[in-house]
Amino acid sequence: MTEKSIWEAFFDAHAPVYEDNIFTKNTIHEVDFLLRELSLQPGSSILDVGCGTGRHSIELAKHGYSVTGLDLSSEMLARAADAATTAGVNVNWIHSDATQFSLPGKYDGAICLCEGAFGLLGQRDDSIDQPLSILCNISRSLKPQAKAVLTVLNATAMIRRYTNKDVTEGRFDPLTMVESSECPPREGHPPIAVRERAFVPTELVLLFRLAGMSVLNIWGGTAGNWGRRVLDLDEMEIMVVACKTGEPLDAGCA
Ligand SMILES: C[S@@+](CC[C@H](N)C(=O)[O-])C[C@H]1O[C@@H](n2cnc3c(N)ncnc32)[C@H](O)[C@@H]1O
Repeated sequence: MTEKSIWEAFFDAHAPVYEDNIFTKNTIHEVDFLLRELSLQPGSSILDVGCGTGRHSIELAKHGYSVTGLDLSSEMLARAADAATTAGVNVNWIHSDATQFSLPGKYDGAICLCEGAFGLLGQRDDSIDQPLSILCNISRSLKPQAKAVLTVLNATAMIRRYTNKDVTEGRFDPLTMVESSECPPREGHPPIAVRERAFVPTELVLLFRLAGMSVLNIWGGTAGNWGRRVLDLDEMEIMVVACKTGEPLDAGCA
């Protein structure tokens, strides 16, 4: 990879404090939930896209799964590798952009959690191409009928949070569902201009379909509060459970 993208720069600087975030504190329950949804035998292979510091990958490896964690940030991955060593588990870590990866093997399941790349747009990323390319890459990495679980930002919550003034002042774009903000990656660091994309359920169904996957369920997926329940309008995140049913359509995928 050449020059750092904004999210790579952001997470490289954020890595030392990432696991201080309150939303990272429910990993064991989240993995129990994932295992129920993915319904895989131990030993099955799981791809964790945007794995961050590896909290789900490592917990899944502890349960006997063969896990590959992929992330854009070498600093997040360095912490993940240290944590795996401490936990005494083996995880295959890959430093790559989720919009561009292609892996040799096919996986029994995939996860992409807490906006693990999906909708974290670079400065020039298109708001449809970015998530679609990630879905196509995930889809191409899965065996037929394999399941994927993603949590993504919820557009209804974003819409309800913003005003017309935010739109005219460039903080929220209602055409693309992109929020733009300046965010310091950690205390003492200068802010970085970042773009985050939220989604409505109907477009998620369509994007997954273009990528050769069928959405099985959409639930409330806010970190710390996962469950098989109806999506609340103010909920931060949507959970999507999908299944690979075909191949990515040429029209959609790069
Ligand atoms: C909010 S963290 C989520 C990490 C992890 N999935 C979790 O639940 O703790 C988002 C992660 O996505 C990674 N990321 C952002 N854009 C990416 C991209 N284009 N390709 C791969 N990883 C990316 C970041 O480096 C970061 O580790």
